[in-house]
Order: sequence, then structure tokens, then C-alpha cells
Amino acid sequence: MNIEKKYHIITFGCQMNENDSEKIAGILTKKGYTYAEDSKDADVLVINTCSVRGNADDRFFGNLGQFKAVKQKKEGMIIAVCGCMMQQEIHINDVQKRYPFVDIIFGTHNVHQFGEFLDRKLEGNKKRVVEVISDGPIAEDVPMKREFDYKAYVTIMNGCDNFCTYCIVPYTRGREKSRPASKIIQEIRELADNGCKEVMLLGQNVNSYGKRGEITEPCSFAELLDRVSEIEGIERIRFMTSHPKDLTDDVIEAIARNEKVMNSVHLPLQSGSSRVLKLMNRKYDKEKYLQTVEKLRERIPDISITTDIIVGFPTETEEDFAQTLDVVEKVRFDSAFTFIYSPRHGTKAASMEGAVDDAVVKVRFEKLMDLLHAKMLEQSVEKYEGKTVEVLVDGHSQKDENMLCGKTRGGKLVNFHGEAPMGTLVNVKITKPTTFHLLGEVAE
Ligand code: SAH
Ligand code: SF4
Ligand code: F3S
Repeated sequence: MNIEKKYHIITFGCQMNENDSEKIAGILTKKGYTYAEDSKDADVLVINTCSVRGNADDRFFGNLGQFKAVKQKKEGMIIAVCGCMMQQEIHINDVQKRYPFVDIIFGTHNVHQFGEFLDRKLEGNKKRVVEVISDGPIAEDVPMKREFDYKAYVTIMNGCDNFCTYCIVPYTRGREKSRPASKIIQEIRELADNGCKEVMLLGQNVNSYGKRGEITEPCSFAELLDRVSEIEGIERIRFMTSHPKDLTDDVIEAIARNEKVMNSVHLPLQSGSSRVLKLMNRKYDKEKYLQTVEKLRERIPDISITTDIIVGFPTETEEDFAQTLDVVEKVRFDSAFTFIYSPRHGTKAASMEGAVDDAVVKVRFEKLMDLLHAKMLEQSVEKYEGKTVEVLVDGHSQKDENMLCGKTRGGKLVNFHGEAPMGTLVNVKITKPTTFHLLGEVAE
């Protein structure tokens, strides 16, 4: 009798991890597994971890313990742990010692080999499989099971060479490497043939795509945007993340000239203080950041600019923090992710003196949020009040099942009344702009 085998994947972290999970799902689907809604029903459970901040680590360890009992109830269940935490010896050792029920541990450079690791366990290998390498090339032609038909993540590069002093990613994702443009184009063509409308090009720093010279066909990020724009069927192109030091004029021009490239840029500021930026090794200062924003707005007036900000980096003073507020005041971001600095084992900043007091950080964080939200509301009203905007229909609103939702070209969430099929572009008349989203109705 052929009993259907099932899998479940729990994904923490960024879009890179989500895209890796789509690869793991692709490998399992090819092996005949189907998706289980509930992890308790899975024959194979994969946990894809993130290590970017301390709370990511805590969430994982807080979660892992419960699977011992789950596994005991499901005969033959295989548990695999992968992702950024598993690129660090300290965490691998921890899992090995404290969680003996984990069957497979593999790293971010071994995702494409997951099928082999699983086979080894299924063949009766009693020993735990541990396969982690510190770096490796980007594997091509890995099957993928994507979450949606009409929108897709496409990784264009992997790794990071920037070594911002607070950041673990260069250690978990290895050195920067770009995929050949021909492979990217081929992937997106296939997506378009299957009804995909929107692609999100992914990389830790997409603006330095193609710069390392390991690909034999030179292609800059701006050229890549042109080439993806030519693909019939694709209507929207997004990308992230842009490092402010590399957002060159040719990329700004490529955004401006290609109608399909969305007018939205995620441009992580991290801090508004040039002194702190230097300590962070960001390679731009406050003035350069503001100039880049000015250039973007000059060339693409309705561009939406979003950001990441860290509060409480070692030695951050009131004056440094005031500089961050000043940039927020001047730029008026459309939205922002804000983080409290979290020391990461092995990074340069982790051994820096001058930790900022928790209570001080908390006050600064709240002040920052208040200002960000006030500016977001201003932007929202200015840009969208009474306007009709193009939205890609993405599902039902989380707040109200009777409403649909989707994103504008600038990436703002819209909840709206009316009928429209999933994955189509519709015009929506905005009835009320708010800080975090817009309310509207399908335009006649
Ligand atoms: N490659 C992207 C960001 C990757 S991590 C870039 O360069 O912008 C996403 C965000 O997490 C970062 O932009 C930063 O704001 C935040 N972050 C990274 N490490 C952090 C740490 N140790 N503490 C707090 N926030 C951190
Ligand atoms: Fe981390 Fe900096 Fe690289 Fe972004 S650019 S992934 S913040 S090291
Ligand atoms: Fe986390 Fe790794 Fe992404 S550390 S943010 S999953 S690159």
C-alpha cells in the first residue's frame, strides 16, 4: 500500500529563508511528499532558522523543545533543522547536545542536497546527519514549490561582503555571489509562462549584483532590471535590499525608465549619526544618505522609501540619536522596520564597549516609533488621499474577511471592498489613508 507521506516546514527570518524553504518544499514534492497543514501530521518536519537578532534565536529554541513530544506520537517522523543558526558552531553544538531527537542538521549552502540527507536517514542510518559547510556556490536548477502562482521570490545573489559590524549575515550566508543573468531570466520566463505577474528580486545587497566578476556574462543590476522588464507577462518587478552605498545613478535611471519596476526602494538607514554609521562600517554618512534620497525623489517623484533603523548601537549618545530622528524628519519614510541593537556572537560590535542602558534604549525606541508613525501618516495622506491606485489582488484582508487586500506600486497595503480575482491588477479608489494601510473600493 502506498501511504501518502507528508511534510511541514517552519520558516523564521527573511525572504532569503522563505525562498530556501520553497526549495526544500520543491525537493520534498519531487520525492512524492505532500504538504501537511499541521506539523503534528508531518513525516518530515523542517525548521528553517534565522539568527539576525537574539530574539530570533530565542524563538527557535523556545519552539524546538515541544517537537520531542510531537515526534514521540508520530512514528518514523524525521526532524531537520537548517538555516542561518545552523551556520554557527555554537548553535549546532547546542542542538546536538540538548535536542537528540533532531535527525538532520544542514546549513544554508547545503539546501539543494536536502534530498540526499533525507535518503540517508530513510535508509536506516541511525546517526544524525550533520552537513554544514562555511561557504559554497549558488546551486542552480533546484526544484521549487512556491507559495503563490502570481507572485514569486527570485534570488539573484547570495551572501554578503559588507560586514556591517553588528550583523551576522556575512557569517551565515558566506561571501557575495551573483547568479548568471541567463539563469535568472530563464527562471522568470518560466514563472511568467505559469501566470506569475510580480517578481521580487532578492539579495542582501542587490545593487552590487554582478560586481564580483565570478559570472562569465557581465550584467549590472540596472541591466538586469532592463532585461527582466522585457519579459512578457511580468507586470511588476520589486527588489530588496538596496545598500545605500551602492545605489548608483544607473540603478535610479533603470527604476525611472522601466514602467514595470515598482517605484519603491528599501534603503536601510540603520542610524542617522555619521559617527555611528562609521562604527557600523556602513560606508556612507548622513549627508550621503540624504543626497541619495534627494536624487531618488528628483528622478522618481512618487517613489516610496522604506528603511531599517537600529536603536542603541554601542556608544550611541542622545546627540547620535537626535541625528537619526533628524533623518526620519527629513526623509519621511513610507514605512520602517525598527530594531533594538542585539549583540551577535562573533561580530565586531559584540566586543565593543559602551553598551547603552536598556531603559534609555526603550525611551529612544518609543520616541522613534512616534515620529516614524507621524511621518508615515503624513506620507500616506499626501500620496493617496482621494487617489485611484493600481493594486495586485493578494487575498482577503486580515481584519475583515469581506474585504480584499493587496499592495500598491509603492508597496503600501490596501484593504478594499469589491470583487476581483486573486492575482489580478485592479484599480482601487482610496477612501481613507491611515498610517499602516489604505482603505478603498474597487474603482468603477
Ligand atoms: N542586507 C540587508 C539587511 C539584512 S538584516 C541590508 O543590508 O540592509 C535586516 C535588518 O536587521 C538590518 O537592516 C538591520 O537593521 C537589522 N539588524 C541586523 N543585525 C542586527 C543586530 N545585531 N541588532 C539589531 N538589528 C539588526
Ligand atoms: Fe548585514 Fe550589512 Fe550585509 Fe546587510 S549589508 S546583510 S546589514 S552585513
Ligand atoms: Fe535571518 Fe539569515 Fe535572513 S540571519 S534575516 S534568515 S539571511
